[in-house]
Amino acid sequence: MLERVTSSVAEACRPEQADKRRIAVNFSRAASTYDVAAALQNRVAARTMLGLPSNRKPEFVLDLGSGTGRQTIQVAGHYPQASVVGLDLAMGMAAHARSCFPQLDWCSGDIEHLPFKDNRFDVVFSSLAIQWCSLNRVLEEVHRVLKPGGLFVFSTLAAGTMHELKRAWGQVDPHVHVNDFDTYSAQKHCVQQSDCQLHSFRLQTETIYYPSVMQLLRDMKALGVNTVPARQNGLMSRHRILKLQEAYEVFRTEKGLPLSYEVIYGIVHKPLII
Ligand SMILES: C[S@@+](CC[C@H](N)C(=O)[O-])C[C@H]1O[C@@H](n2cnc3c(N)ncnc32)[C@H](O)[C@@H]1O
Repeated sequence: MLERVTSSVAEACRPEQADKRRIAVNFSRAASTYDVAAALQNRVAARTMLGLPSNRKPEFVLDLGSGTGRQTIQVAGHYPQASVVGLDLAMGMAAHARSCFPQLDWCSGDIEHLPFKDNRFDVVFSSLAIQWCSLNRVLEEVHRVLKPGGLFVFSTLAAGTMHELKRAWGQVDPHVHVNDFDTYSAQKHCVQQSDCQLHSFRLQTETIYYPSVMQLLRDMKALGVNTVPARQNGLMSRHRILKLQEAYEVFRTEKGLPLSYEVIYGIVHKPLII
């Protein structure tokens, strides 16, 4: 059932997609460290999976941005009769997932240009991956590959995500260290304007606490979320780290230093053709 993408990441990303290339390289590098740092991502994926209906028996299921495959295997457990495929831009992630879970299908490819024929899948799942893409484009592609009546169950990020880190960096230098995401309402509007039918779309703040800024930065790197691009900012000098630590301390709670994620949990479906 798979139309595998066999090209390298460099070939898969067109020249104008320098950002995608950087995303793919960062996540590929993080393939062996991601799972130990992914406490919040696991929590979000578990909540996203609550949106998977139990009263359906899908034949074909797709996980977009499947990463190390830890969530894909759980989705496969939810639908044991289904043929499940995980797709990720980062070849390192797809290779890691394939080596850990050879019983499933894995491929490297771009969510915005899915390497699948129309009307292929009964369910498309995605946890914390489509925030790296244009939501319009994702919805077009998901609509194309879903069978009529098929479901798209996903989580993504909204504006306000990592606001503590953004504010703290703002005290250190004027560079961009934290990605900007569209607001909840802008994303809801985008879904409403698409050919997909909206079922549910809710926003929930998920917070993770760190003992120190150093641990937070280490985990970001382990996750492949490089908030300190070297080319832009040079090496992290002791002085800059101290400034960042000082600026972040204003957010400290009894649980530690908070890092908030504004998570959208969404369910949409492709309407049946009447
Ligand atoms: C935060 S990880 C989430 C992985 C997994 N879904 C989880 O919940 O643990 C995001 C994943 O999305 C992938 N990704 C980012 N942009 C993508 C794109 N345009 N197409 C396919 N995968 C993409 C990254 O390579 C990365 O593995």
